[in-house]
Amino acid sequence: MTAPLIDPFQRAISYLRVSVTDRCDFRCVYCMAENMTFLPKKDLLTLEELDRMCSTFVRMGVEKLRITGGEPLVRRDILTFFNAMSRHLDSGALKELTLTTNGSQLERFAKDLFAAGVRRINVSLDTLDEEKFARVTRWGRLPQVLRGLDAAQAAGLKIKINAVALKGFNEDELFSLAQFCAERDMDLTWIEVMPMGDLGNEDRVGQYWSLKDVRARLAQQFTLRDLPESTGGPARYVRLEESSQKIGFITPLSHNFCESCNRVRMTCTGELYMCLGQEDMADLRPALRNHPKDDAPLEAAIRAAIGLKPQGHDFDYSRQRADGQVSRHMSHTGG
Ligand code: GTP
Ligand code: 5AD
Ligand code: SF4
Repeated sequence: MTAPLIDPFQRAISYLRVSVTDRCDFRCVYCMAENMTFLPKKDLLTLEELDRMCSTFVRMGVEKLRITGGEPLVRRDILTFFNAMSRHLDSGALKELTLTTNGSQLERFAKDLFAAGVRRINVSLDTLDEEKFARVTRWGRLPQVLRGLDAAQAAGLKIKINAVALKGFNEDELFSLAQFCAERDMDLTWIEVMPMGDLGNEDRVGQYWSLKDVRARLAQQFTLRDLPESTGGPARYVRLEESSQKIGFITPLSHNFCESCNRVRMTCTGELYMCLGQEDMADLRPALRNHPKDDAPLEAAIRAAIGLKPQGHDFDYSRQRADGQVSRHMSHTGG
């Protein structure tokens, strides 16, 4: 075991998010442009290279591995990778192996994911209305995702639903989404929309629905109790006393949580983004490829990158414009 990864602000890095593909079968309006150009397949790290990268991070103290995309389950042979990572669960080095998915492929993969040691997954779902779902995802179909949720629960996976809070879009579904999740024993987390990617015609400031308001509206119908617990992610949770349901809030805009940041993100080409809300990254691929038999240069490159982790993002809508915007799309790092 090497020395733990500590950043310049004394934050220990124990959570790695790995994007295994930039592709997706949806085109969510806040995540991608309608006409995306994707990376040529030859630029992607192979599954063996992804394994070596992740295993190095695990050796350096990463305890939570979240697989993201694009949509992680559209990467060919991705189960091979999950199965390989499960050895780190068996050894006890990794405490959690999980993924964030749009749910479209869960019907096919749920059982095998459980068999690989995945226990808890996050599924993005912003609306329960078929027409609105088709609009916000551009290409998605709600019934397919609902079947995916059923399959995941039947396989024994615990589900957390992620809903991006969008003004004038899902405000009217605050209670119906909560009820839907309560009935199925799923947690629910609301997320504030972040200004990422070429916004095109998208009006982020106009779309922004502060979770302070979400919370206040929930409090009109329920008694909210703040929960001290954390899943190691940025969400803060409350329990609705009347239904005992857990609801999370991810508030990069209305309440900055960078102080407790414990994570970094790797893209499918081996770029390490030290902060979701900043442009700087370190390319780990040369250290990996130029030294096929020796992990020391890769470890040094990772340690050097963590030494450059910025204090936090600069997202800000308070001047009625999308300040602190980041040019890459969310799909580049998978959130
Ligand atoms: P758990 O706590 O393990 O359930 O997961 P998580 O919240 O870490 O992961 P998830 O993939 O569900 O992320 C939900 C949302 O939170 C996504 O929109 C992410 O972009 C956002 N998010 C996750 N980590 C960060 C972060 O470090 N900074 C910011 N600004 N947003 C984040
Ligand atoms: N702002 C906030 N959340 C976003 N997501 C994608 N794009 C954005 C954005 N611009 C969310 C997705 C998914 C998670 C990985 O990131 O809904 O739940
Ligand atoms: Fe961490 Fe950056 Fe997210 Fe802040 S914005 S929590 S520093 S990744």
